[in-house]
Amino acid sequence: MSPIPTVRFLTGITTTGTPHLGNYVGAIRPAVEASRRAGTQNFYFLADYHALIKCDEPARIQRSTLEIAACWLAAGLDPEHVFFYRQSDIPEVPELTWLLTCVTGKGLLNRAHAYKASVDKNVAAGSDPDADVTAGLFMYPVLMAADILMFKAHKIPVGRDQVQHIEMARDIAQSFNHLYGEHFVLPEAAIDESVAMLPGLDGRKMSKSYDNIIPLFAPPELIRKQIANIVTDSRAPGEPKQVDGSALFQIYQAFASAEETQALRKAYADGIGWGDAKQLLFERIDREIAPMRERHDALINNPAQLEKILRAGADKARQIATPFMGELRHAVGLRNLAAPAGTAPKARQAKAALPSFKQYREADGRHYFKLVDAAGALLAQSTGFASPQDAGRAVAQLRQGRLDGLEKALQLADGVTAAQLSAALAVLSQA
Ligand code: TRP
Repeated sequence: MSPIPTVRFLTGITTTGTPHLGNYVGAIRPAVEASRRAGTQNFYFLADYHALIKCDEPARIQRSTLEIAACWLAAGLDPEHVFFYRQSDIPEVPELTWLLTCVTGKGLLNRAHAYKASVDKNVAAGSDPDADVTAGLFMYPVLMAADILMFKAHKIPVGRDQVQHIEMARDIAQSFNHLYGEHFVLPEAAIDESVAMLPGLDGRKMSKSYDNIIPLFAPPELIRKQIANIVTDSRAPGEPKQVDGSALFQIYQAFASAEETQALRKAYADGIGWGDAKQLLFERIDREIAPMRERHDALINNPAQLEKILRAGADKARQIATPFMGELRHAVGLRNLAAPAGTAPKARQAKAALPSFKQYREADGRHYFKLVDAAGALLAQSTGFASPQDAGRAVAQLRQGRLDGLEKALQLADGVTAAQLSAALAVLSQA
């Protein structure tokens, strides 16, 4: 049986804070759901090298790594099924960072928003432009490119603030490929439009930097206390309330079903008191979080178990990273001196990691195509077309991921399911 074609998703979580409801709704929950989708391979890692750029408190880095790992696992991430690891357990990542550093233009890094913001702030304050700017901050995008390129990830789910970094990873990959051959897959940012931004206590985006968060796994009483602090207007019980602009309503909506949301909308119109609305919100959040809390607390209280899970994840990730790093070292000339020069093993074509179409003509004079998976195994075979243009049009449509009207013209290979075919087309349409 041919392997199911896969799109590789990869994302990192910087280990500087304690996870809050905004992280859960905006990143953890959608990622755990996405990790269960067929036809995908998922890499989630704790970006603790990145954390060092922002934080010089060792205890905080350690604690945050523990808390974030526990949260992701408690939220249902299955470390057997995905790649879940700690960045600093993969020595190939800093090694690759250096190779990439050597093909990255300094001018590219000069344009990075985060670095520029620090320089601008210094200039505005009349300080030296480089005051308190570390080389780590400057190099941040290169380290991030190494994270991504190491695992040939196609799609990078991130917030909008990270899109520039993904584009830089793409540029860096292109520079390397241009110089040394097609080793890297060019990644793309994946922004999930359906994930709502969660407002915090004051109505602005929930964020540690605004100090307006509701922690994810705090004791229920603390969560209740924070919910009591959500800003509302001064309308009394009995007066109709506005859902537009109500942070309380938006947070509720992020947890509730369509029916529950509709019921709260009606309660607002009917003049529910803010105290009662806050109680409803507390209960709804607690219903989702409570079952995970037990698992979370068990993991926090058993750091050795977490450590074991992360190390097993690193072993799994290094099965990819170690041989790939060997290939890259060879590509740039860091080679065994006893091996004759110029006998580079042919670089594996990074692009061959995707399914592809092959068009051809048969003895009957008709034009055919077949779809093969990354390993070259047959997925589906077309019926004959009168002209190469007709066959080409069908292929072009399929490349966009649209099967409509072509079902009859395609015959699945033995053992291949319709779902596998759709997954392969989905991969191609995103490639
Ligand atoms: N910079 C990302 C953030 O702050 C975290 C991160 C590090 C990351 N490496 C990554 C995200 C690789 C995606 C891919 O959110």
